[in-house]
Amino acid sequence: MMPHAVIFDLDGVVTDTAHLHFLAWQQIAREVDIDIDEQINEQLKGISRMGSLERILRCGGAEKRFSHQQKQALAERKNALYVESLKQLNSDSVLPGIAELLAELHQENILVGLASVSLNAPRILQALELTHQFDYCADASLIKRSKPDPEIFLAACAGLGVQPENCIGIEDAQAGIAAINSSGMLSVGVGLQLQDADLLLPSTAELNWPLLQTVKRI
Ligand code: BG6
Ligand code: MG
Repeated sequence: MMPHAVIFDLDGVVTDTAHLHFLAWQQIAREVDIDIDEQINEQLKGISRMGSLERILRCGGAEKRFSHQQKQALAERKNALYVESLKQLNSDSVLPGIAELLAELHQENILVGLASVSLNAPRILQALELTHQFDYCADASLIKRSKPDPEIFLAACAGLGVQPENCIGIEDAQAGIAAINSSGMLSVGVGLQLQDADLLLPSTAELNWPLLQTVKRI
Protein backbone atom coordinates (compact mmCIF):
# COMPACT_ATOMS: atom_id res chain seq x y z
CA MET A 1 0.00 0.00 0.00
CA MET A 2 1.31 3.42 -0.94
CA PRO A 3 0.32 5.57 2.06
CA HIS A 4 -1.50 8.82 1.27
CA ALA A 5 -0.67 10.48 4.59
CA VAL A 6 1.53 10.20 7.64
CA ILE A 7 0.03 11.41 10.92
CA PHE A 8 2.36 12.24 13.77
CA ASP A 9 1.89 12.29 17.51
CA LEU A 10 3.70 15.35 18.92
CA ASP A 11 4.99 14.82 22.48
CA GLY A 12 7.78 12.23 22.32
CA VAL A 13 7.69 11.88 18.51
CA VAL A 14 8.32 15.32 17.04
CA THR A 15 10.06 16.66 20.15
CA ASP A 16 10.99 15.42 23.62
CA THR A 17 8.21 17.22 25.51
CA ALA A 18 7.14 13.86 27.02
CA HIS A 19 9.98 14.41 29.49
CA LEU A 20 8.87 17.98 30.25
CA HIS A 21 5.33 16.72 30.99
CA PHE A 22 6.89 14.22 33.40
CA LEU A 23 8.98 16.84 35.23
CA ALA A 24 5.95 19.11 35.70
CA TRP A 25 3.74 16.24 36.93
CA GLN A 26 6.50 15.04 39.25
CA GLN A 27 6.61 18.45 40.93
CA ILE A 28 2.80 18.59 41.37
CA ALA A 29 2.72 14.99 42.64
CA ARG A 30 5.46 15.73 45.16
CA GLU A 31 3.44 18.68 46.49
CA VAL A 32 0.59 16.29 47.32
CA ASP A 33 2.98 13.63 48.72
CA ILE A 34 2.86 11.25 45.78
CA ASP A 35 5.99 9.81 44.19
CA ILE A 36 5.83 9.15 40.46
CA ASP A 37 8.53 7.45 38.42
CA GLU A 38 9.22 6.94 34.71
CA GLN A 39 7.12 3.76 34.76
CA ILE A 40 4.00 5.65 35.86
CA ASN A 41 4.88 8.34 33.32
CA GLU A 42 4.64 5.74 30.52
CA GLN A 43 0.95 5.33 31.42
CA LEU A 44 0.39 9.11 31.19
CA LYS A 45 1.60 9.45 27.61
CA GLY A 46 -1.25 10.29 25.22
CA ILE A 47 -3.67 10.82 28.14
CA SER A 48 -5.38 14.20 28.63
CA ARG A 49 -4.29 16.62 31.36
CA MET A 50 -7.14 15.80 33.76
CA GLY A 51 -6.95 12.09 32.89
CA SER A 52 -3.24 12.16 33.79
CA LEU A 53 -3.91 13.88 37.14
CA GLU A 54 -6.58 11.31 37.98
CA ARG A 55 -4.15 8.46 37.27
CA ILE A 56 -1.47 10.07 39.44
CA LEU A 57 -3.91 10.53 42.33
CA ARG A 58 -5.07 6.91 41.92
CA CYS A 59 -1.44 5.72 42.06
CA GLY A 60 -1.03 7.56 45.37
CA GLY A 61 -4.37 6.24 46.71
CA ALA A 62 -5.57 9.87 46.76
CA GLU A 63 -8.42 9.78 44.24
CA LYS A 64 -10.99 10.88 46.88
CA ARG A 65 -8.77 13.46 48.62
CA PHE A 66 -9.47 16.41 46.33
CA SER A 67 -12.61 18.22 45.21
CA HIS A 68 -13.27 18.95 41.55
CA GLN A 69 -12.09 22.55 42.05
CA GLN A 70 -8.89 21.43 43.78
CA LYS A 71 -8.15 19.01 40.93
CA GLN A 72 -8.78 21.78 38.45
CA ALA A 73 -6.30 23.98 40.33
CA LEU A 74 -3.65 21.20 40.40
CA ALA A 75 -4.05 20.62 36.64
CA GLU A 76 -3.75 24.36 36.00
CA ARG A 77 -0.59 24.58 38.12
CA LYS A 78 0.92 21.64 36.26
CA ASN A 79 0.17 23.35 32.97
CA ALA A 80 1.77 26.61 34.16
CA LEU A 81 4.97 24.72 35.07
CA TYR A 82 4.88 22.85 31.77
CA VAL A 83 4.30 26.00 29.69
CA GLU A 84 7.20 27.68 31.51
CA SER A 85 9.46 24.74 30.59
CA LEU A 86 8.37 25.03 26.92
CA LYS A 87 10.29 28.33 26.74
CA GLN A 88 13.47 26.29 26.21
CA LEU A 89 12.13 24.84 22.92
CA ASN A 90 13.43 26.06 19.57
CA SER A 91 14.07 24.62 16.11
CA ASP A 92 16.98 22.57 17.55
CA SER A 93 14.53 20.69 19.80
CA VAL A 94 13.09 18.62 16.94
CA LEU A 95 13.95 14.95 17.50
CA PRO A 96 16.50 13.25 15.18
CA GLY A 97 15.16 12.15 11.79
CA ILE A 98 11.91 14.14 11.97
CA ALA A 99 12.96 17.18 9.89
CA GLU A 100 14.41 14.86 7.24
CA LEU A 101 11.26 12.72 7.17
CA LEU A 102 9.02 15.80 6.84
CA ALA A 103 11.15 16.99 3.92
CA GLU A 104 10.90 13.57 2.21
CA LEU A 105 7.11 13.50 2.68
CA HIS A 106 6.69 16.94 1.15
CA GLN A 107 8.96 15.99 -1.73
CA GLU A 108 6.76 12.94 -2.44
CA ASN A 109 3.49 14.90 -2.02
CA ILE A 110 2.44 12.78 0.96
CA LEU A 111 0.06 14.60 3.29
CA VAL A 112 1.29 15.32 6.82
CA GLY A 113 -1.02 15.47 9.85
CA LEU A 114 -0.79 15.96 13.59
CA ALA A 115 -2.82 13.98 16.14
CA SER A 116 -1.87 15.29 19.58
CA VAL A 117 -4.34 15.58 22.46
CA SER A 118 -2.19 18.39 23.89
CA LEU A 119 -3.88 21.78 24.07
CA ASN A 120 -0.35 23.20 23.87
CA ALA A 121 0.33 21.61 20.45
CA PRO A 122 -0.03 24.84 18.39
CA ARG A 123 2.44 26.74 20.58
CA ILE A 124 4.91 23.83 20.53
CA LEU A 125 4.84 23.58 16.71
CA GLN A 126 5.38 27.31 16.57
CA ALA A 127 8.38 27.15 18.94
CA LEU A 128 9.84 24.34 16.80
CA GLU A 129 9.18 26.43 13.65
CA LEU A 130 7.26 23.50 12.17
CA THR A 131 3.69 24.84 11.91
CA HIS A 132 3.88 25.26 8.11
CA GLN A 133 5.04 21.63 7.69
CA PHE A 134 1.68 20.17 8.74
CA ASP A 135 -1.16 20.04 6.24
CA TYR A 136 -3.70 19.52 9.04
CA CYS A 137 -3.53 19.47 12.83
CA ALA A 138 -6.48 17.91 14.65
CA ASP A 139 -7.87 20.36 17.23
CA ALA A 140 -7.39 18.81 20.69
CA SER A 141 -9.99 21.16 22.20
CA LEU A 142 -12.70 19.45 20.13
CA ILE A 143 -11.74 15.91 21.13
CA LYS A 144 -14.01 14.19 23.66
CA ARG A 145 -11.95 11.05 24.30
CA SER A 146 -8.15 10.82 24.76
CA LYS A 147 -6.03 8.03 23.33
CA PRO A 148 -6.43 4.97 23.33
CA ASP A 149 -9.69 6.09 21.69
CA PRO A 150 -9.05 6.62 17.94
CA GLU A 151 -10.98 9.94 17.88
CA ILE A 152 -7.96 12.25 17.41
CA PHE A 153 -6.45 10.11 14.63
CA LEU A 154 -9.83 9.88 12.86
CA ALA A 155 -10.19 13.67 13.15
CA ALA A 156 -6.75 14.09 11.54
CA CYS A 157 -7.69 11.71 8.69
CA ALA A 158 -10.97 13.56 8.13
CA GLY A 159 -9.18 16.93 8.13
CA LEU A 160 -6.68 15.67 5.57
CA GLY A 161 -9.47 14.10 3.50
CA VAL A 162 -7.92 10.61 3.56
CA GLN A 163 -9.19 7.17 4.58
CA PRO A 164 -7.53 5.73 7.73
CA GLU A 165 -6.65 2.55 5.78
CA ASN A 166 -4.36 4.69 3.60
CA CYS A 167 -2.51 6.34 6.48
CA ILE A 168 0.39 5.65 8.79
CA GLY A 169 0.42 6.92 12.38
CA ILE A 170 3.60 7.41 14.42
CA GLU A 171 3.49 7.17 18.21
CA ASP A 172 5.70 6.85 21.31
CA ALA A 173 2.88 5.82 23.69
CA GLN A 174 1.13 2.49 24.20
CA ALA A 175 -2.23 4.33 24.33
CA GLY A 176 -1.30 5.97 21.02
CA ILE A 177 -0.49 2.66 19.29
CA ALA A 178 -3.86 1.32 20.47
CA ALA A 179 -5.57 4.47 19.11
CA ILE A 180 -3.87 4.12 15.70
CA ASN A 181 -4.67 0.41 15.49
CA SER A 182 -8.34 0.89 16.28
CA SER A 183 -8.60 3.76 13.79
CA GLY A 184 -7.71 1.33 10.99
CA MET A 185 -4.41 3.08 10.20
CA LEU A 186 -1.02 1.34 10.14
CA SER A 187 0.99 1.95 13.32
CA VAL A 188 4.64 2.81 13.75
CA GLY A 189 5.98 2.77 17.30
CA VAL A 190 9.03 4.66 18.49
CA GLY A 191 10.53 3.00 21.57
CA LEU A 192 11.20 -0.72 21.86
CA GLN A 193 9.03 -1.20 24.97
CA LEU A 194 5.84 -0.69 22.90
CA GLN A 195 3.58 -3.57 21.88
CA ASP A 196 1.30 -4.25 18.89
CA ALA A 197 2.86 -1.71 16.49
CA ASP A 198 2.95 -2.78 12.83
CA LEU A 199 6.53 -1.48 12.78
CA LEU A 200 8.61 -0.83 15.90
CA LEU A 201 11.74 1.32 15.84
CA PRO A 202 14.22 2.11 18.62
CA SER A 203 14.02 5.87 18.02
CA THR A 204 12.87 8.59 15.60
CA ALA A 205 16.35 8.57 14.02
CA GLU A 206 15.42 5.34 12.16
CA LEU A 207 12.30 6.85 10.53
CA ASN A 208 12.44 7.44 6.79
CA TRP A 209 10.02 7.36 3.86
CA PRO A 210 11.37 4.25 2.06
CA LEU A 211 11.01 2.30 5.33
CA LEU A 212 7.49 3.63 6.00
CA GLN A 213 6.36 2.39 2.58
CA THR A 214 7.21 -1.18 3.63
CA VAL A 215 4.90 -1.16 6.70
CA LYS A 216 2.28 -3.92 6.64
CA ARG A 217 -0.38 -4.90 9.16
CA ILE A 218 0.97 -7.47 11.63
C1 BG6 B 1 -0.22 14.34 25.21
C2 BG6 B 1 0.83 13.90 26.19
O1 BG6 B 1 0.38 14.59 23.98
O2 BG6 B 1 -0.88 15.53 25.66
C3 BG6 B 1 0.22 13.78 27.58
O3 BG6 B 1 1.36 12.66 25.77
C4 BG6 B 1 -0.48 15.07 27.97
O4 BG6 B 1 1.25 13.46 28.50
C5 BG6 B 1 -1.52 15.41 26.92
O5 BG6 B 1 -1.13 14.94 29.24
C6 BG6 B 1 -2.25 16.72 27.22
O6 BG6 B 1 -1.35 17.79 27.13
P1 BG6 B 1 -1.61 19.27 27.61
O7 BG6 B 1 -0.44 20.03 27.05
O8 BG6 B 1 -2.92 19.69 26.99
O9 BG6 B 1 -1.66 19.27 29.08
MG1 MG C 1 3.51 11.01 22.63
